[in-house]
Amino acid sequence: MKKGIYPGSFDPVTYGHIDMIERASKMFDKLYVSITENINKKSFFTLEERLDLLKKICQNYKNVEIVVCQNKLTVDFALELGANVIVRGLRAVTDFEYELQMASTNHQLNSNVETVFMMTNTDYSFLSSSMVKEIAYIGGNVNKFVPKIVEDKIKEKLKKA
Ligand code: PNS
Repeated sequence: MKKGIYPGSFDPVTYGHIDMIERASKMFDKLYVSITENINKKSFFTLEERLDLLKKICQNYKNVEIVVCQNKLTVDFALELGANVIVRGLRAVTDFEYELQMASTNHQLNSNVETVFMMTNTDYSFLSSSMVKEIAYIGGNVNKFVPKIVEDKIKEKLKKA
């Protein structure tokens, strides 16, 4: 059984991520979407909130399982799950340096895990979770970038803040 893992902070999950999940799910018998805390980013949603949103959004992808990776290296978590391929999306040249650094570091950490890249759908090549959060903070409309369930949750969270 070919298993892959698509790790990310998904804070929040966007249509760009969902497009990646849909395409990557066709490449593997099983795809784990791993919600992983990025220690370099301050999070907006808790891991539980992100888990809940992703589970609801991905419920129709039968070979996709949403998991949370906490206090663990992605490569170690991948191998624990039996996945030896990490999938990452590349939006533009600006992503390349960060992704190269991450893929090379992961390869140094464990060369049994390979990273493969998929080009993001051009419709979403500009889209980022940070941009969505910025627009939402200022009261802009994010419905082109995230599903309604995510939009509603962002609004609810901002109201409470
Ligand atoms: O969506 P992001 O924030 O670009 O995802 C980055 C993420 C979470 C995949 C990356 O930071 C990660 O794998 N963190 C877990 C810790 C780890 O394995 N670090 C070594 C690889 S850089």
